[in-house]
Amino acid sequence: MKRFIIKGPNKAIKGEVEISGAKNSCLPLMAASILFKNKVTLNNVPFVKDIFTMKDLLVSLGANVKYSEVNKKMTIINKQNHKLVVPYNLVSTMRAGVLTMGPLLSRYPKKEIKVALGGGCALGVRDTNWHLAGFKSLGAKNNLHKGYVNISSQKGLNGNNYKFPKVTVTGTSNLIMASIFAKGTHFIKNISIEPEVIDLINFLNNSGAKIKFLGKRSIKITGIKELINGSHTIIGDRIEAFSYLCVGAITNGKIKINNINPNHLRSEIMTLKKIGYTIDTNINSIKINSGKKLKPVNLKTGPFPNFATDNMPLVMAVLTKIPGKSEIEETIFSNRFMAAPELNRMGAKISIKKNKAIIIGQKKLISADCISSDLRTTFSIILGAITAEGSSTISRIYHGLRGYYNLEAKLKKIGVKIVSKN
Ligand code: EPU
Repeated sequence: MKRFIIKGPNKAIKGEVEISGAKNSCLPLMAASILFKNKVTLNNVPFVKDIFTMKDLLVSLGANVKYSEVNKKMTIINKQNHKLVVPYNLVSTMRAGVLTMGPLLSRYPKKEIKVALGGGCALGVRDTNWHLAGFKSLGAKNNLHKGYVNISSQKGLNGNNYKFPKVTVTGTSNLIMASIFAKGTHFIKNISIEPEVIDLINFLNNSGAKIKFLGKRSIKITGIKELINGSHTIIGDRIEAFSYLCVGAITNGKIKINNINPNHLRSEIMTLKKIGYTIDTNINSIKINSGKKLKPVNLKTGPFPNFATDNMPLVMAVLTKIPGKSEIEETIFSNRFMAAPELNRMGAKISIKKNKAIIIGQKKLISADCISSDLRTTFSIILGAITAEGSSTISRIYHGLRGYYNLEAKLKKIGVKIVSKN
């Protein structure tokens, strides 16, 4: 099992990073290919582990998938009807497998679809009850049998209305995909407006779907007959982008990141500015420059356009070095502070009380051997190791490789002293 060894402290890191396509945009777009009768072409695909798992899932359902990592391109061809069973082994390693529910139901509403439930995950309970309630509003019934949800609607799907009790990202994408061919019009309220959901809506509309915004978080979907071909270029990954901005922040260096829309990181940029960093943005790039007097901040995560929960462990690492007391409130997941004990092993002072973290900034961190437990925690620990004095070892980095493309090479390119070992 691969480990990273990072030698710190890396002072004032300078360089440029090319941001890859957004994993959390690519996964629902790949699932959406099920809606199409012929070919879907995706550009700017980030070939991380989760994308290969989703590819295997589509192949197991009967799709023909071709890809070129060099050209960042994937083509998904559906010449035959899909199999309607999504097996546990593919959903258990990647929760995004639940995203196949909506498109399978949409395309084969009168058949019985069996999708394995993914179960819990390191971030806490991750339910699909609102996905299923959304499908119910279209007329689909479901029952749970031996760990599989069976979904079908004998009379087909009919437009109606549904309001999500709380914002859910994959829930929104799933219900949008389920509604595309429903008879009449389906109204959905309190949807997620994360950039990745908007990317899915743009892709579907450009391919012939009829999804219209009625308000900030309300949409109307008018059922169409079929989708045949589609093509889309995936947006840049705002979480990967923020991760590398944090490398600049924690070393008080100078980093420019390319291929990212700064509007997707408005809250995060505001937070970095509040701490005291200088940030310059362009249409498709962001630059961070060292700040002279850095101050602690208080922040709270929330659905977009608020500070993203995925970016929280990253800023938490940065705040371990900012003099004074910072506070973070996490509002999305029950168990999102797994990086805290690892950073504390490097000498950080983070205390967790329920959904709040209090961070007392330290002058220096000292290297330690750490274990990663989820995707964003991996990068948070990497940030600590970059600034800590001495050699830190990070185990279980496969968590990080699920979502960061060319992680080691990108860090090396900007001067981080990192090697991987088995
Ligand atoms: N929730 C329910 N019932 C539901 C759906 C959600 O109770 O039916 C709860 C969840 O338990 C959670 C909250 O609602 O407490 C929000 O969950 P959401 O459904 O928005 O999360 P998700 O769609 O499963 C996506 C990303 C996550 C990201 C979250 C929050 C993908 C594939 N995953 O998950 O990304 O943290 O939104 O923004 O898009 C990652 O990339 O590392 C990652 C975990």
